[in-house]
Amino acid sequence: MAGELVGWNRGLGYSPGPHSPRFREFRRLFQHSIGPRKAQETALLSMQERSTTKLLGRLLQSPDDFMTHVRQSPGELILRLAYGYKVATEQKEDPLVKIAEEAMQGFSRASEPGAFLVDTIPQLKYLPEWFPGAGFKTTARRMRKDLERLYNVPYEFVKDQMVRRTIRLFHDPFIERGHQSLGKADDSFVSSYLLEKGTPSPGEEELIKAAAASLYSGLAHRLTQGDVYRGYYFPKGTIVWANIWSMLHDEKVYPEPSQFRPERYLDSRGALRTLDRMEDPAVIGFGFGRRICPGMFLALNSVFIAVAMILYVFDISKTQDENGQEIVPEVEYDGFISLVQTYQRLGWAALK
Ligand code: HEM
Repeated sequence: MAGELVGWNRGLGYSPGPHSPRFREFRRLFQHSIGPRKAQETALLSMQERSTTKLLGRLLQSPDDFMTHVRQSPGELILRLAYGYKVATEQKEDPLVKIAEEAMQGFSRASEPGAFLVDTIPQLKYLPEWFPGAGFKTTARRMRKDLERLYNVPYEFVKDQMVRRTIRLFHDPFIERGHQSLGKADDSFVSSYLLEKGTPSPGEEELIKAAAASLYSGLAHRLTQGDVYRGYYFPKGTIVWANIWSMLHDEKVYPEPSQFRPERYLDSRGALRTLDRMEDPAVIGFGFGRRICPGMFLALNSVFIAVAMILYVFDISKTQDENGQEIVPEVEYDGFISLVQTYQRLGWAALK
């Protein structure tokens, strides 16, 4: 559903095998633009701080919408990194953020294991859209349209910006000419690639669009060779999902996992204890092996900056009912990329 019918098979997650040139090119680009060295650059850290400052302002203005704000903030950062696009703060709904969100909602739904029968019976993909029970084809077509927009609209924005800049440089003799200076002025994942390639071929254009769109997604793995696990044989090609949710909720490792108990990470003297590799959420949470999250270092910095700044500025508490009793939210999660579903009904955000 997600790969073939919606079209995410052009992206990193479905690229043919970890040794394929396409996969390696994707990972090379990510390593260069969001890898550990890049994540330590002052310019990027300042960008993350500025982005969090915006988040604080939004939280202050409309604390009830905190879920939207918290989701929007990393989305904006990725748009900035991927396309050099700055989200307009004064607009309630930025058009590119909307495009990215819509495409990603489709991805999250389409890639959820077991959500679509066509993943189990692939022949169903040949059903015409009007056929009874083939509603998934209509859904896929809509999601595909959203994905196309995510591929094309921000890409065209980058190309347009680069042309405008070239025209400005042409007319302004005081600005240093040439591609190098353009690269500096227009530093984004896509523009750097376009500058590296000079005049990109249609294949290269397709690759960079797919790579940039892949910055939003994580995905299933497939066995490159047969393997045995706990007495079960898994043939080559078996699709495997690392169930990180279950690992991070393992009672043996994290007693009462749903309880907010930061002290679980402290030793008897109140200092941070050294965590075992498979006990450290920051290790497990980003996946494993060749497909480990390439945005890990950037994300850890983002989360650290956001948590530190939010805690410094706000007091956070549960909201109260008319009798002054705290409302304890019942939180439900949904989707392959789990998101809290019920926060709107509960109205439990109380930021003071
Ligand atoms: C707290 C934030 C984040 C978490 C918890 C997270 C977690 C993950 C996980 C679990 C995977 C799958 C790894 C696997 O398949 O083994 C993944 C993949 C990926 N992540 Fe992240 N991620 C985060 C932030 C980011 C950011 C900010 C970016 C980019 C700017 C990013 C880009 C990617 C990409 C491109 C992949 C696909 C890698 C591949 O399939 O080879 N992630 N991430």
